[in-house]
Amino acid sequence: MCGIVGVLTDHEAAPILVEALKRLEYRGYDSAGIATVHNGMLDRRRAVGKLHNLADLLVYEPLPGKAGIGHTRWATHGGPTVRNAHPHRAGRVVVVHNGIIENYRALKEALADREFESDTDTETIAHLCETFLDRGMSPREAAAETLKHLEGAFALAFLFDGEEDLIVAARKGSPLAIGHGEGEMYVGSDAIALSPLTDRITYLDEGDYAFVTRSGVEIRDADGRQVHRDTVKIAAQAAQVDKAGHKHFMVKEIFEQPTVLAQCLAHYTGNGAVELPDADLDFAATDRLIMVACGTAHYACLVAKYWFEQIAGLPCDVDIASEFRYREPPVSDRATALFVSQSGETADTLAALRYTRDKAMAVVSLVNVPQSSIARESDTALPILAGVEIGVASTKAFMNQLGALACLAILAGRQRGQLTPEREAELVGTLLSLPAMINQALALEDQIRHQTGKLAEARSVLFLGRGPMYPMALEGALKLKEISYIHAEAYASGELKHGPIALVDNNLPVIVLAPRDALFDKTVSNMQEVMARDGKVWLVSDAEGVALAGEGVWETLTLPTIDPVFAPMLYAVPAQLIAYHTALHKGTDVDQPRNLAKSVTVE
Ligand code: G6P
Repeated sequence: MCGIVGVLTDHEAAPILVEALKRLEYRGYDSAGIATVHNGMLDRRRAVGKLHNLADLLVYEPLPGKAGIGHTRWATHGGPTVRNAHPHRAGRVVVVHNGIIENYRALKEALADREFESDTDTETIAHLCETFLDRGMSPREAAAETLKHLEGAFALAFLFDGEEDLIVAARKGSPLAIGHGEGEMYVGSDAIALSPLTDRITYLDEGDYAFVTRSGVEIRDADGRQVHRDTVKIAAQAAQVDKAGHKHFMVKEIFEQPTVLAQCLAHYTGNGAVELPDADLDFAATDRLIMVACGTAHYACLVAKYWFEQIAGLPCDVDIASEFRYREPPVSDRATALFVSQSGETADTLAALRYTRDKAMAVVSLVNVPQSSIARESDTALPILAGVEIGVASTKAFMNQLGALACLAILAGRQRGQLTPEREAELVGTLLSLPAMINQALALEDQIRHQTGKLAEARSVLFLGRGPMYPMALEGALKLKEISYIHAEAYASGELKHGPIALVDNNLPVIVLAPRDALFDKTVSNMQEVMARDGKVWLVSDAEGVALAGEGVWETLTLPTIDPVFAPMLYAVPAQLIAYHTALHKGTDVDQPRNLAKSVTVE
């Protein structure tokens, strides 16, 4: 949520800030703003909406200066207006902020004699800092003092009047990276924002703050002690953030799935078996797997629950992170806690992880960003190797979460004596055949483009599935609603009669995800119940399934035949393409759907 940048350069800062903000726009796009200090004076420009509005404004009202900070906003406190856009200013200081200041009301009351111009929590930070400057503190001292009074989660950058060689950056709960250039220094919410500028990054630890100047960075921990944090070289792939000729990042990422899944499976398998490089997990010693995540990652966990239970006989709970952390469930010291997160920064998932530390036997994470907070705070962090994902609607990360989870389930099955080497080889073989099958599913794009013309007219859509196809149906409905804004719900097919069937009429498309598995006939019965009430069924199945049950349905889509156990990975592809092409028909903003952000660092 919200992206922040800062630069101390020998060139004009504004274009560099805007360019870096472009790479952070996935974190929010309600408004954007930059501030610079030039000839000793602070000034700022802010605009509502996407970043291009700010870029347009800067054409007419340029902002000179070689030191600057910038922000792209996902609104929390106060609507998306210019007044509420960052940077926020109080006298001699401007601030950009990612996160939430939980005690801002109390701070605002204590600052009642000051004039506030916005409805944000962030502005209190600027005013508080200004009061410390008023008391004669230096900018460094004032910023450090301000931090002591802030509660909540935040990443911050401060810039001061009269200080053209200083940005104060701070991190508590939200990620922040410091970039090292040649005589230049940078600050950013993530390394991707800084990747065209530098590949040398220092990540701040929890509670750290930093005095950044052109000659380097001085980092202090929460107690104000000067500390050393390693500088790492980020992988070249993190720098590749373009659409590669595709219309949207989302469709580019959908089409990358065969490649990235193959990379992930190559990492976790070898010689027909699962091999876990650089990690040591013991599923035989554990009595329960607790999986916790948010959004699409949560649905990946729900699919994997079927795998861990069926393949490994391992009892398994799956929780939404925001529920888990406050429910405070008992966690036995023989439980393995597994946290799944693309970004590795989701605030609720991170808090849930911290709750299980010192309780569970092992705290494991599955992340796409190896330097993320969740990865760094786990006993074992496993990569999903999907590459940078920009589209707000997660696609290839979901696929690779499933790929890695499938491997872990197979490993658990072997360690728990539930799998013969032959069955393991068979399961691994099925996984390895998936990239080619996904390619076949991708070849259905034209058909799906055509079919979704009608779907785009629907007000509401129902997805049905049984077994591991039920969570896949949940993911299909999520994808459709988040990018096409069509209301969509998913139900376990067997639950249809317990309520949702009341919605069925001849206006309701019902997408049935039904590979030819042991439950196929039961799903078909549920489908018939929909058709008997004039519901418009779109059957997604394999050739045999479509031949058996496709007669009289509204639409069919035929996928390759696959061992049903891993069918959700294949059926994810049409679900993604259905959402994507429906959104194209509706003309919505696919990569940046309204109200959403990719990295949710507030709870
Ligand atoms: C947001 C994103 C989703 C993502 C979820 C969890 O809602 O829009 O695509 O699935 O956060 O994010 P994580 O980074 O923890 O996987």
